Amino acid sequence: MLVLWALTALMTLQPASSSTATLDFDYYKANVEPIFLEKNPGFVRCVVCHSGEGRVGFLEELSSNADTWTDEQSRRNFEAVSRLVIPGQPLASRLLMHPLEPDAGGDEFHNGGRQFSSQDDPKFKTLVAWVNGEQ
Ligand code: HEC
Repeated sequence: MLVLWALTALMTLQPASSSTATLDFDYYKANVEPIFLEKNPGFVRCVVCHSGEGRVGFLEELSSNADTWTDEQSRRNFEAVSRLVIPGQPLASRLLMHPLEPDAGGDEFHNGGRQFSSQDDPKFKTLVAWVNGEQ
C-alpha cells in the first residue's frame, strides 16, 4: 500500500520538482507523533478524534492507561499518517493544511478546529520539516 502510494506520489511530481524527500520514521516518532498527543489550549487533542475505527482514524487506539504508543503502533501510525502528506510538498499535504487557519493558507474546513494559527507555529514547522525529509 505504502509502496503503491509512494510510486503514485513520484509519478505525480511536477517535472520542475527535484524533490527527493523521504519521510523519516525516527524523526516522526520523536517529533511528529507527540503533536497528536499534546493539547493545544482551547482544542481537543488530535488523538481523541483520530484514533480507532472511525472514518478519519489514522492513529492507533492507545491501550488503556498508556500515555503513548508502542513502537509497533507507531509504525502503523507512521504508515497511515504518511498517506496524508506528499513528501517534499508540505503545503500540498492534507495533514498540514487541514488543521491550519484558513487565513494562514489552510483548508476551508476542519471539524477538529484550526489548531495551527499560522505557518510559524512550532508544531506546524515540525510537520514541515518532517515532510521535507528531515532526519
Ligand atoms: C474534535 C475532533 C477532532 C480533533 C480534535 C481533530 N480533528 Fe482532524 N478531523 C476531524 C473530523 C471529524 C474530520 C473529517 C471531517 C473534516 O474534514 O473536518 C477531520 C479531518 C482531518 C484530516 C483529513 C483526513 C482525511 O483523511 O481527509 C486531517 C489531516 C486532520 N483531521 C488532522 C488533524 C490534526 C493534525 C489534529 C490535531 C492537531 C486534528 N485533526 C484534530 C475531527 C477532529
